[in-house]
Amino acid sequence: MTNSEPDHNRPPAAWIPTQHPHSEGTPKCRKNISVLGLGLMGTALAKSLLAAGHQVTVWNRTPAKADPLVAEGAKQAATPAAAVAASELVIACLLDSRSVTATLEGAELRGRVIANLTTSRPVEAREIAALVTERGGDHLAGGIMAIPQMIATPGALILYSGSKAAYDRYEQALSAMARPPSTRARTPRWRRCSTSRC
Ligand SMILES: NC(=O)c1ccc[n+]([C@@H]2O[C@H](COP(=O)([O-])OP(=O)(O)OC[C@H]3O[C@@H](n4cnc5c(N)ncnc54)[C@H](OP(=O)(O)O)[C@@H]3O)[C@@H](O)[C@H]2O)c1
Repeated sequence: MTNSEPDHNRPPAAWIPTQHPHSEGTPKCRKNISVLGLGLMGTALAKSLLAAGHQVTVWNRTPAKADPLVAEGAKQAATPAAAVAASELVIACLLDSRSVTATLEGAELRGRVIANLTTSRPVEAREIAALVTERGGDHLAGGIMAIPQMIATPGALILYSGSKAAYDRYEQALSAMARPPSTRARTPRWRRCSTSRC
């Protein structure tokens, strides 16, 4: 390959894989983390954070879905705003971007890191990033490369874009949800996206 040829194995600068080991039990740095959305994926994410020893606050539109997590030690917030107020790191895993925007309405985002792991189109991710930063927060967009049963197993991978500073601050906490791909090649192979929508 010459210097002028693109290296398709190289990750785009904005995308950072979670590749760092996370602690079992009590993490070195226990964090307060809120999870908005307790569908199949949100529940798996919240469980992994609890299992890693973090203080987890959860909110779901249908409150009863929080019961099993509360039994495992999570705190339940009555409103999304209360969940956002409880933690500096807030993970959103909702149906779609519209539900994320609606859920964040009225919440004080100043000083918060919103890690939105809801599947979104690029244009929607940019809109949510703008919404969060305009309201004083930091934004991470995460793409989950896993099904709920894989969360916190070696096969799970979450790709992040957004605030590098926010990612660096919470890298260890985020790695509770997606472990390093220890059973695969340490250096993932990347392909350039060929769609014009990205
Ligand atoms: N499941 C997977 O294998 C998988 C893999 C990769 C990525 N993802 C992504 O993860 C996200 C969540 O997936 P999931 O499997 O957890 O879906 P899910 O089981 O259908 O859960 C959807 C969640 O969104 C909430 N919700 C829906 N509409 C809402 C609204 N208008 N306002 C507030 N909350 C609302 C639901 O609340 P209620 O409980 O009240 O209905 C529920 O907590 C999606 O973006 C999905 O694409 C999923």
